Amino acid sequence: MVRAHAAHGGGTPHPWVLWSGMAIAAVVALAAWPAGAQGAAGGDLWTKSGCADCHGNLAAGDGDPAYPQGPNLRRMTLARADLREVIACGRPGTDMPYHLANAYTGTACFGITGPVPNRMRKGIALTAAELDTLADFLATSVKGQARITKANCALFFGGNADDPACAQY
Ligand code: HEC
Repeated sequence: MVRAHAAHGGGTPHPWVLWSGMAIAAVVALAAWPAGAQGAAGGDLWTKSGCADCHGNLAAGDGDPAYPQGPNLRRMTLARADLREVIACGRPGTDMPYHLANAYTGTACFGITGPVPNRMRKGIALTAAELDTLADFLATSVKGQARITKANCALFFGGNADDPACAQY
């Protein structure tokens, strides 16, 4: 940097200014990337899978009144493996649908393989990998997060904290 300084003749921005700006941008990008990318994938799945209809856009239990009322998942106490199974298999005897394409018939649900229980709702078909992403997202970014922050809201809108839906947080 000393050589760059000595050679600096004016007219163009000082190289150090450019370099430090780039370094700061790189550090910010590195710090923001992992959580944002994972959250966005989980949040996108949440929205595209129809979970919001019953559980609300931000999983806070304020779904569309036209649908059965799903509980506030921010207050749930289920462990990650258990909530994954509920999403895959639904909950028999309730309005919670199953989402794994071959649940019950090809993949055991609650320890049993067999016909899908009577009157079970079928949700959008998700792959095992999508279930993992969704379960990780709910376990880390929804469960225990009763107070919604702007950053948490952004996870449901592709990482965009400026989405109008997040303006109130
Ligand atoms: C048709 C409405 C409906 C849809 C769609 C729906 N749910 Fe549910 N969900 C419910 C209801 C109702 C319950 C409560 C079941 C009960 O009474 O135990 C529930 C329970 C759950 C639970 C267990 C919560 C607890 O504390 O026991 C999880 C986790 C869950 N839903 C996640 C999801 C996810 C993820 C999706 C989308 C892939 C989804 N739900 C889609 C209605 C729905």
